[in-house]
Amino acid sequence: MSIIHINKLEPGMVLADEVRDLSGKLLLTKGKTVQLDHFRIFKIWGVTEVNILGNNGGKEEAKPNLDPEQIEKIKESTMQVFSHTDLEHPAIKEIFGLSVLFRNEYKFFNPNSNVQPTENDPAENINEQNCIKKLADQTIKLPEVPSIVFELNEVIANPMSSADDIAQVVQKSPSLTAILLKFANSPFYGFPSKIDKISLAVTLIGTREICGLALGLSILSTFDKIPKEFLDMFSFLKHSVACGIISRMLATHKGISQTEQFFVSGLLHDIGRLIIYCNYPEDSRNILNLSRINNNLLYEAESNYFGCNHSHVGKHLIQYWKLPLSLENNIFYHHNPSESQKPVPATLVHLADIITNGLGIGTSGERFVPPLDTEAWEALGLSPSCFDIVVRQATHQFFALESMLEN
Ligand SMILES: [Fe+2]
Ligand SMILES: [Fe+2]
Repeated sequence: MSIIHINKLEPGMVLADEVRDLSGKLLLTKGKTVQLDHFRIFKIWGVTEVNILGNNGGKEEAKPNLDPEQIEKIKESTMQVFSHTDLEHPAIKEIFGLSVLFRNEYKFFNPNSNVQPTENDPAENINEQNCIKKLADQTIKLPEVPSIVFELNEVIANPMSSADDIAQVVQKSPSLTAILLKFANSPFYGFPSKIDKISLAVTLIGTREICGLALGLSILSTFDKIPKEFLDMFSFLKHSVACGIISRMLATHKGISQTEQFFVSGLLHDIGRLIIYCNYPEDSRNILNLSRINNNLLYEAESNYFGCNHSHVGKHLIQYWKLPLSLENNIFYHHNPSESQKPVPATLVHLADIITNGLGIGTSGERFVPPLDTEAWEALGLSPSCFDIVVRQATHQFFALESMLEN
């Protein structure tokens, strides 16, 4: 099996996986032989790559470097990252195997090096009992809604909004315009010709999708003053974007037709952490250090300390800013989706977070892979075998977007 760009696709090749469009609609089934007229269908529906059986269009498939000694070392360090999960569980087992291969291929040896305990506040000096404070819902400090987020929200809520209405709001922010056009022209969407106007991007990509993307990116950009001692913002963005891409891809594999909410949910799933780091710097320092001393999950350390964790804080922001309910559900339940009234979307974001942490793409401060909600997993009815293709497709999209996140 190999994933190839449609430019390298030739008639007669056999599909190793089904082909879906960006919204998850099935275009061709697995096992079909590619015919000439399929090329036109792929172009129309924005398909940029497909998974084919056999070799890579006649070329030798690049073999990952599998040095047994190296793999053993990576396995050992990856085991530590997975120490809060059940490695015997079939889904986790599959994600673990893929994570080892990914960390080997992309040389992610020390994915958590950006989360260090602070030198002037040694962990040993923290008395957990003395510093714990409970965050009551009414007292959670939240930033005011930025005007662009407010305006985008209004446009989204109005069913009469046109592509031009959206373009007008987006164009008020040159940085948002620039990054949206970069997204629109990247393999994430895979359009064959250049998109140079926001209104064209809205028409081609879709109103809901572009609004969600604009909303997610502008919300994240309002938190650009995170003290470096807690978190490298670039690393946080990488974690968020990868989680968004993987969420959307898992939704496609689940056969969900409208996948736009998944990218934004993944993008914003840990937004509560940015609020904690920005508004509670002293407490953030304590929480990060306590999670290290006790070797526990960061969200557990947050709960022990505040009485609630970043999912809860994130939900408050979504409510306060009157953002869509689907976001509230997926963010609030991303660590415990089986408790949600709408468990399926929350479970997909939950899985995407587990995979992103496993692969070690960026970080939101967490050093470990969060445990799987097995009840939600059982109810989802997805096979672990889909993770392989999801990871390969998602990483291809992620690396195409990575460079634009730095600016
Ligand atoms: Fe989280
Ligand atoms: Fe996360």
